[in-house]
Amino acid sequence: MPDRTDPAEQLIRSWEANAAAWTRTVRSGGIASRKAATDAAIVSAIVGRRPRRVLDIGCGEGWLVRRLAQEPGCATIGFDGCPTLIAAARSSDPGGDYRDLTYAEFIANPDAVDPGVDVAVFNYALLEGRAVDLLSSAASRLAPGGVVIIQTLHPWTSAGGSYRDGWRTEDFSAFAGSDEAWTPMPWYFRTLESWLALIRDAGLAIETLREPVGETDVPLSLLLVAARTA
Ligand SMILES: C[S@@+](CC[C@H](N)C(=O)[O-])C[C@H]1O[C@@H](n2cnc3c(N)ncnc32)[C@H](O)[C@@H]1O
Repeated sequence: MPDRTDPAEQLIRSWEANAAAWTRTVRSGGIASRKAATDAAIVSAIVGRRPRRVLDIGCGEGWLVRRLAQEPGCATIGFDGCPTLIAAARSSDPGGDYRDLTYAEFIANPDAVDPGVDVAVFNYALLEGRAVDLLSSAASRLAPGGVVIIQTLHPWTSAGGSYRDGWRTEDFSAFAGSDEAWTPMPWYFRTLESWLALIRDAGLAIETLREPVGETDVPLSLLLVAARTA
């Protein structure tokens, strides 16, 4: 029986409730920071490695998988625990490889995805309180020389006045299209120190840390590229 008061349970349930609004918002360019810098930043970080196989973890409605399909010789698998988002991804890209898979299912059975992945990417999709098993399962899929790439809210601009790890609530009010009926989403805030500790605990080491700014004076995201240490 799922614990309905558990933020991790509420998190995945919120995506089912928000799937249609999220799909409309992403596809209409309703998230300003994405248009300004962060979509280009994640694409460039991935494409710059000339990957042959990419795993998009928490792929949502599939924009990044569709974008990477334009790169010659790059095959991408996307998975997500929200069936409505996976259905939206498939209907826009019937030839794409999209899988219904929750993070808990992936951790229990990483072999659901074949190893030999050059890039495993989390684009605003590492929202869990306990993320080390998820990150090490992603790392277990990497080919030699492969990397995990994480793009997330920058902790220095998203702390909301309390620079301490802990659950926060996203109400989506900053998005264009915020007149949509959004269900609040719990997400776990980490300080920069905690991000670095999480990556180390998952058996990874940072190769590069980027802070895309676009034309603003503040970082629009934190973008980490990490390789296996062993
Ligand atoms: C902010 S959206 C990002 C989607 C996509 N990566 C993008 O760039 O648009 C977060 C995604 O994480 C997925 N997600 C959150 N918790 C999950 C879980 N426990 N298992 C699988 N997917 C999950 C959600 O369904 C959602 O698609």
